[in-house]
Amino acid sequence: MADLRINFAGIESPNPFWLASAPPTNSGYQVQRAFEAGWGGAVWKTLGDPILNVTSRFAAVSFNGQKVAGFNNIELITDRPLEVNLKEIYETKKLFPNHAIIASLMVAPSQEKWHEIVKRVEDAGVDGLELNFGCPHGMAERGMGSASGQVPELVEKQTYWAKEAAKTPVIVKLTPNITDITVTAEAAVNGGADAISMINTINSLAGVDIDSWNTIPHVGGKGAHGGYCGPAVKPIALHMVGECARNPLIPIPISGIGGISNWQNAVEFLLMGATGVQVCTAAMHHGFRIVEDMIEGLDHYLDDKGIASVMDLVGKSVVKYSDWGNLDLNYKIVAKINADVCINCNKCHIACEDTSHQCIDMLKDLAGNSQLKVREEDCVGCNLCSIVCPVDGAIDMIEIPSGLPPMTWNERQAALGVASCDSEK
Ligand SMILES: Cc1cc2nc3c(=O)[nH]c(=O)nc-3n(C[C@H](O)[C@H](O)[C@H](O)COP(=O)(O)O)c2cc1C
Repeated sequence: MADLRINFAGIESPNPFWLASAPPTNSGYQVQRAFEAGWGGAVWKTLGDPILNVTSRFAAVSFNGQKVAGFNNIELITDRPLEVNLKEIYETKKLFPNHAIIASLMVAPSQEKWHEIVKRVEDAGVDGLELNFGCPHGMAERGMGSASGQVPELVEKQTYWAKEAAKTPVIVKLTPNITDITVTAEAAVNGGADAISMINTINSLAGVDIDSWNTIPHVGGKGAHGGYCGPAVKPIALHMVGECARNPLIPIPISGIGGISNWQNAVEFLLMGATGVQVCTAAMHHGFRIVEDMIEGLDHYLDDKGIASVMDLVGKSVVKYSDWGNLDLNYKIVAKINADVCINCNKCHIACEDTSHQCIDMLKDLAGNSQLKVREEDCVGCNLCSIVCPVDGAIDMIEIPSGLPPMTWNERQAALGVASCDSEK
């Protein structure tokens, strides 16, 4: 069996699968059951001054029969008294000393408030702190959550205040509701953060009921924007993790969050630079036991690849992730339709004809049967036909040697003596 243990900024965990700060980590009862099920760590539901919540709070977007393709919420931080949470954190840590318990914190942007809460949660025995600068709804009117997480100066200052009081590692959880997440990530680094986590939820409105004209969800006929998460946000989260992982000004560990539903998703985040992952929506959709498959799948994957420790996976794809200007303009692939697998549904032809480069011809063979064929010289290798094809293996994208040496846009511009606006970061 491979070694699944991680060391995340000094926080030890039996495996890289943590529950994110959210309803699944609301109480000692839940976190203890999660640890029994196999989760390696839990970021407690955000602590702060207890708040009032509204009903309803959640909505989901289903797509083509897939329930909860995306999940939207307008829930705030914990509505339980701080003393109760601290007592349950203490008890849970005593029962599970080898599991990671992280306290998620959100307080008003004042040095005194940060010092006070850091001290209180550390006295309860947490292994680390996660500063929640990310929840996009509610709290903003109080200057908290993403209202402060969108302002680099506030991220830096509050991280610094938390670090002044902290004895355990400080993780800064970033909001995706910003143009360039590396700016706030750098602010966290400048404030002394030991690690960053991303992403919190994305500003969203799940839908509008076309009969009642109410928003979805609504509170007595009125709605407000919420935070989006679940499988739909995974590509956005993965991009943000990758951008931070490849940025030399952000040399601290990353906890990857956003749409992670299985071990394969987790491996993607690890490869793209995350040292561990956090999960919320998938646990809310399927329950704590999904972690069993995650652990087993990751273990088999590492064994199959001959990798001894999960830590050896971290960041292996980062060198393969760059700017557009560094891609080889002479690399060429074209579509190849496998006639013996193709069912002649013509979806590829329609997609190519209507919306791409009109290079898939409908031919008739001698028996009068229709056949689809790619005119390679006109194919731009965009992948669209293989994306819309409903049959696995019916369309392959194959490499055509161009006979030319690799040449990127940046190299081309440099050779021409023209400055490029997309130079190597
Ligand atoms: C109902 C709900 C409540 C949440 N509450 C918190 C919270 O209190 N603190 C926090 O940092 N993130 C909170 N989150 C965000 C999650 O921790 C996580 O960042 C986000 O859901 C993305 O992960 P996922 O796609 O696995 O759900 C909440 C998410 C949901 C769905």
